[in-house]
Order: sequence, then C-alpha cells, then structure tokens
Amino acid sequence: MAIDLRSDTVTKPTPAMLEAMTKARVGDDVYGDDETVNAFELRMAALFGKEAGLFTSTGSLANQLALRSLVKEGEELLADEKAHVVRAELGAAAVLSGITTRTFSSKRSILDAESAFAVATPDAGPYLVSTTAIAVENTHNFGGGVIQPLGEIAKLHQLASSVGIHLHLDGARIWNAHVATGIDFKEFGRYFETISVCFSKGLGAPVGSMLISSKERIASARIWRKRFGGGMRQVGLLAAAAEFAFDHHLQRLATDHLNAKLLAEAIAEVDLRLVDLETVQTNIVGIDLTPLALTASQLAAELHSQGILTGALGSKYLRLVTHGDLTSDEIARAASTIQDSLKKSK
Ligand SMILES: Cc1ncc(COP(=O)(O)O)c(C=O)c1O
Repeated sequence: MAIDLRSDTVTKPTPAMLEAMTKARVGDDVYGDDETVNAFELRMAALFGKEAGLFTSTGSLANQLALRSLVKEGEELLADEKAHVVRAELGAAAVLSGITTRTFSSKRSILDAESAFAVATPDAGPYLVSTTAIAVENTHNFGGGVIQPLGEIAKLHQLASSVGIHLHLDGARIWNAHVATGIDFKEFGRYFETISVCFSKGLGAPVGSMLISSKERIASARIWRKRFGGGMRQVGLLAAAAEFAFDHHLQRLATDHLNAKLLAEAIAEVDLRLVDLETVQTNIVGIDLTPLALTASQLAAELHSQGILTGALGSKYLRLVTHGDLTSDEIARAASTIQDSLKKSK
C-alpha cells in the first residue's frame, strides 16, 4: 500500500467512528430536526466562546458563508497571498458573493498585524474598494502549517475593529494550533467574528466542517447554505463522525507533529536549504527544491514510483502532510526514501 503524504484529508473512518455513526439520533436538518447536529453545533460554538454553529459539508462552504456574511458585494476581503480562500477556493468569493480580494504578504506566512493592516482601505469612498474583512488562516496550509501568534492576532483585531473591519478565522486546522501551543479555543475565538473549522483534516472525519459565529450571522448563513445547495437531511450521521473525531483524535495530532518533524529533519540532513525547520510547527512539511535541478513534479513522480504519494503544489514546492493513518514504520520508510531521492539529485 502506498504511503500517502498528500494531505491529512486522506484518512479513512475507523471502525469505532463508523459505530458511533450508526448510533446517532437523526432527523431532517433542513427542518431543524436532527438532534445530533443541533447539539454538536452548540457544543462547538461554546468551545470557541460563540453563540451558534452551522455544520457544513466542506471547509470551503464554511469559509464562503463567513465571507458572504462579513463582506457586501463590491467590497473587499484582505487575506495572506497564500491563503486557502485566495488560492484554493476557485474564486468563490467573487463568483458567489461579488467580493473583491486583495492580499498582503507575510514573512514565512506568519501574520504581522501592522503590515497586514497597512494594506487595508476602510471606508474608501466612491473611488477605491472599501475593506470590510480580513481573513487569518491558522494553521496556515500553504505556509507549511505555521501557527499564527496570538499576540499578532490580538493586535490585528485592535487595529481592524477600530475602523469597523471584521476578522474571519480560517481554522480548518485550528486543532493543530491548539495541540501544539496549548492555547484555549476561546482565546483563538475571541478575536474573530466568524470561524470555520474542519473535522475532515487531521481529526479524521470523512466529511464535515462548521461555521461558528453569532446567532444572527448563523441564522442568515443557514439560509445561504440552503441557497447554495448545502442543506442536508439526516446529517447527524456525519456530525456523529465529526464529534467522534473531536472527542477521540484531537490529542493524537501531537503524533502527527512529531512525525512531520522527523520527515523535516531527514530532509534537512541532506541539505539544510530544502526545508525551513522553523516553519515545521505542526503536521505539514514544505520542501523548497530551488537549490536542486529537480522540479516538484519530477520528485513527486519519482517518489510515487516508490510507493510514496506527495503533493507538488508549485514548480519547486513539494508538500508532505502527516496524519493518523500513518504508522511510525511508514514514516521511517518515507523519510529514508525521500532522503535517497534527494541525494541522487544533488
Ligand atoms: C486552510 C484550509 N481552509 C479551508 C479548506 C477547505 O476545506 P474543504 O476541502 O473541506 O473545502 C482547506 C482544505 O484543505 C484548508 O486547508
């Protein structure tokens, strides 16, 4: 079997998770009748110190419902240049909600509040686009899994709220940030008007994300979710899997973080320039192949032929993601195979 390091979304539900799904009390969620999802939405909202939650099929849908809630047509979202909402949601904010987007860059994809805020143009008048929301991704996927510093988030919140700009947290992997830092979810939650989280990444649920916010915003997002075709029926089956994942798989993310460090250190042993060890803070390792003649797709193909799946996300950028379906033997095998392939191309 291939060792799959493409993403933490590739995990399969465990037998215990499948059993929890079969025991879920369900109802038609479009009528508000599904007890399991209703209770889970309230539980997750409380975890982040918020009033309400809305279960969604994907993190992209949760993000897009948030952006739609915060930014009016023709207004602007600011986000990091490598943010998932910018690079990987296929223009949804523009296509679905008429939102324009501008980006700021950050060293190592780590938020610097003042330089991010410097790009904002609140109340820009009739000539320029007004900024009404800023998105922060924590942890940052295409930034190599880095954790955003709470102090910078607090500073950004202070600057943004002084001019009426709201913050959205793309917290698809906020679980990893919590496990790596020990920071309480309420601390992450208090600076953001809207929060999206995913149960289908490192936590290992087969499907499921959630938008978390105020009662008012969630009531409106519920309408938009249906309008976008995202209303689901006996969704408690999926919510039960997500809740099982949260209850049983959260602490094991620490193992994913250790495994990512093992892989990164093996790569650094070949050439220190290939991986920035300081950014390997959670379960993602970004390999920068600039010093070598090899491209990311060539290396991905070479590793594929040896049973290791990876993600070529740029001509010179290869991503490895650790997750719960990998054994320590598989990590060790992946590390030595990657080392050998890199050594060959030096
Ligand atoms: C940071 C981040 N946000 C949002 C998403 C979107 O999640 P989904 O694939 O469920 O739409 C992803 C998916 O990888 C992600 O990495």
